Amino acid sequence: MAPAASYWLFSIICLVLAVCQPLATASSNVYIVYMGERRWDEPQLVQDSHHQILSDILGSKEAAKESILYSYKHGFSGFAAVLTHSQAKLTADLPGVVHVVPNRILSLHTTRSWDFLQLKPNVENGILSKGHSGAGSIIGVMDTGIWPESESFKDENMGEIPPRWNGICQEGEGFNRSNCNRKIIGARWYVKGYEAEFGKLNSSDRVEFLSPRDAVGHGTHTSSTAAGGMVKDASFLGLAQGLARGGAPLAWLAIYKICWAPGGCSSADLLAAFDDATFDGVDVISLSLGSSLPLSTYVDDIISIGSFHAVAKGISVVCSAGNSGPYPQTVINTAPWVITVAASTIDRAFPTAITMGNNQTVVGQAFYNGKEDLNKFYPIVIGKDIATFDADEGSARSCESGTLNATLVRGKIVICFQSQFQRSAATAARTVLDSGGVGLIFAKFPTKDVHFSFGIPYIQVDFAIGTSLLTYMEANRNPIVKFSFTKTVIGQQISPEVAFFSSRGPSSLSPSVLKPDIAAPGVNILASWSPVSNLEQTDHVTPNYIPQFNFKVESGTSMSCPHISGIVALLKAIHPTWSPAAIKSAIVTTASLKDEYAQSIVAEGAPHKQADPFDYGGGHVDPNKAMDPGLVYDMEVSDYVRFLCAMGYNNSAISLMNRASTTCNDKSTKFLVNLNLPSITIPELKKSITVSRQVTNVSPMNSVYTARVQAPAGTTVRVEPSTLTFNSTRKKLKFKVTFYSRLRVQGRYSFGNLFWEDGIHVVRIPLIVRTIIDEFYAET
Ligand SMILES: *[C@@H]1O[C@H](CO)[C@@H](O)[C@H](O)[C@H]1NC(C)=O
Ligand SMILES: *[C@@H]1O[C@H](CO)[C@@H](O)[C@H](O)[C@H]1NC(C)=O
Ligand SMILES: *[C@@H]1O[C@H](CO)[C@@H](O)[C@H](O)[C@H]1NC(C)=O
Ligand SMILES: *[C@@H]1O[C@H](CO)[C@@H](O)[C@H](O)[C@H]1NC(C)=O
Ligand SMILES: *[C@@H]1O[C@H](CO)[C@@H](O)[C@H](O)[C@H]1NC(C)=O
Ligand SMILES: *[C@@H]1O[C@H](CO)[C@@H](O)[C@H](O)[C@H]1NC(C)=O
Repeated sequence: MAPAASYWLFSIICLVLAVCQPLATASSNVYIVYMGERRWDEPQLVQDSHHQILSDILGSKEAAKESILYSYKHGFSGFAAVLTHSQAKLTADLPGVVHVVPNRILSLHTTRSWDFLQLKPNVENGILSKGHSGAGSIIGVMDTGIWPESESFKDENMGEIPPRWNGICQEGEGFNRSNCNRKIIGARWYVKGYEAEFGKLNSSDRVEFLSPRDAVGHGTHTSSTAAGGMVKDASFLGLAQGLARGGAPLAWLAIYKICWAPGGCSSADLLAAFDDATFDGVDVISLSLGSSLPLSTYVDDIISIGSFHAVAKGISVVCSAGNSGPYPQTVINTAPWVITVAASTIDRAFPTAITMGNNQTVVGQAFYNGKEDLNKFYPIVIGKDIATFDADEGSARSCESGTLNATLVRGKIVICFQSQFQRSAATAARTVLDSGGVGLIFAKFPTKDVHFSFGIPYIQVDFAIGTSLLTYMEANRNPIVKFSFTKTVIGQQISPEVAFFSSRGPSSLSPSVLKPDIAAPGVNILASWSPVSNLEQTDHVTPNYIPQFNFKVESGTSMSCPHISGIVALLKAIHPTWSPAAIKSAIVTTASLKDEYAQSIVAEGAPHKQADPFDYGGGHVDPNKAMDPGLVYDMEVSDYVRFLCAMGYNNSAISLMNRASTTCNDKSTKFLVNLNLPSITIPELKKSITVSRQVTNVSPMNSVYTARVQAPAGTTVRVEPSTLTFNSTRKKLKFKVTFYSRLRVQGRYSFGNLFWEDGIHVVRIPLIVRTIIDEFYAET
């Protein structure tokens, strides 16, 4: 077998919160060694073979045992070990070793949102009742762990743990077997890869538990969003109050803690979690994390490899799209076998009034419950008037750290303006707090996600309101303002819109695979939180000041991902035999393109524009429609393998994805556009191109579907045949779509739709085309 070693650039993977924590860097000394197809069915034999292989390099079996962090043995064979660079190179040359890659560090990226999606217990024949609230499905969450005492994880109404469940409840600091129950049926934790990179976790620096217990809050938030039970009167600082619940409130949870409080998650740990989850028997894996750009190839990326093995076993894998929007080509987690989720806004807002000394009022957004008593007038000041003598005026205006003079700020409200160089409200809050200010107004590009700062009341406004405050300040010698308490308002904000921060397509790795796949709520989402998470802030606020949140409002594609995971759990409960591709197709082809007012959905950005598939894939999720899609675009492992061949990967690289050894007989790139996705993307249309698709009838009836096309601008589209007739023996039918370019210039991407309609179902897929002119390249 050909040896293969590729050495990655070290990079950071981030929890996909809208605000991403920076992280210390480490020099890589953990390597993941892939051995492709598993040769023994007995896991112990697989593990012994790993020790044997490494003994040859390290000189003894003891040294080998010492160095191996994980043996991966369920889906595929391989191990993670601490090695020097030269040992890693030697390992790559051993027979049976396919690929050696350095460990990579990943980062993490209501419940109004479920009502907003019409996923309510009282909707007759809705997906929630038909799916028995997800009873029978197991959702695996790979994240920062769980706070098991949260009310969302009580097990009163939960069914008995199913005999098919192979998982365990792994004990550790502050977590014992009694913390698992009939809701949290499994819990494991993985720290070896992380500690091998960053050294031992030290809980005297920061609160953390060497166990499944969550010290961050992120994993508790995502788990409760996907599958939390009902909690009455949940709220954050008294705001967003209401019944909190997950999408599949009767689904079981299996927790895989792979991300740690100092920030980041190790790919060696993540791969071990995938290996275990596949063995344990989860139905859905929810992954609100990812690596940074540039994207690694599908045969190098751990999330892509781990999810491939899971999907091959029928497990759906749902990933966040990333928070690097609104710029194009920023989407991550782009493998065609996963569901990649963009974030959208909901109809809930948190208006907070600011009253000026002249009694005029403007409205911003905040989580301000009045505890700090800014409900009386305070002087308001701005950067240039309160800067330290050596600070640049622009930096002070944006409240960059160290630019404000404490003598001039103490006891005042500061207004800061976001700049190209200082975008962060959190940085401004910290600067104003450190300088003794009592409140912050942060003027920024208008977006709907509201952030919360510890220790200082904070209201965000858009630039226009910020400017009107400035006008008032300039006209008055002693300008003053006061804050009103935040209100929670529902139904008075047009929604959904694609969130500003949500990462956009096309995929920079494979533009013919439309990403993201779908949009779901990810802005200002209320869910359970870890009450000790705030303790990491002790250096900035006094301990008696720390609020102990059991629920928190957060924004990010991290929050939208578990919405889809919950919906997948409901779909699995209704259609247990559907493949991950069929489930994804059902979600994508039934998605909505309209907001609540029947207007086209808008994408936040610069400026607001009508959303397109690179913002939201198929559209905004419509769970009640997803359970009866009519037709699905299904796929099998062999389809994905053909796609990998067309990507140009070699046999040995592909064999680590696929247990059956692979020979790419046909590497033709036509398989890139012919992959049976519920979308067609032609990144390079010259004169014309014909692509094929196959649809499977999943409703019990005989039916006749007719094609209808909205052609992308500048193209003509023909569908053949234009009618599909299904009966009880003809369940799968193929069709061809031909695109003709009518443009004579280098085109932009343009968008259309293909509908199959039988009078009951509307099965829609997006069409995305970009015309390419040869001359355009010839001249450059
Ligand atoms: C196969 O691909 C891998 C990773 O892309 C590469 O490192 C390796 O050298 C290739 N092997 C052959 C035999 O071309
Ligand atoms: C498990 O932890 C709980 C509290 O979290 C404690 O009350 C109980 O005694 C512990 N059980 C065992 C067996 O250690
Ligand atoms: C943890 O860190 C503290 C202070 O940084 C140090 O005093 C202590 O020895 C460390 N503990 C361990 C177990 O490394
Ligand atoms: C603002 O309103 C208050 C109460 O209505 C009033 O007492 C005060 O005189 C007003 N101030 C100005 C400047 O109009
Ligand atoms: C801060 O402002 C005070 C009062 O105007 C002034 O005396 C002092 O020099 C300033 N300090 C800095 C660092 O700018
Ligand atoms: C379904 O349609 C095909 C093609 O028209 C036909 O050959 C077949 O007999 C039909 N099956 C049934 C059960 O009607």
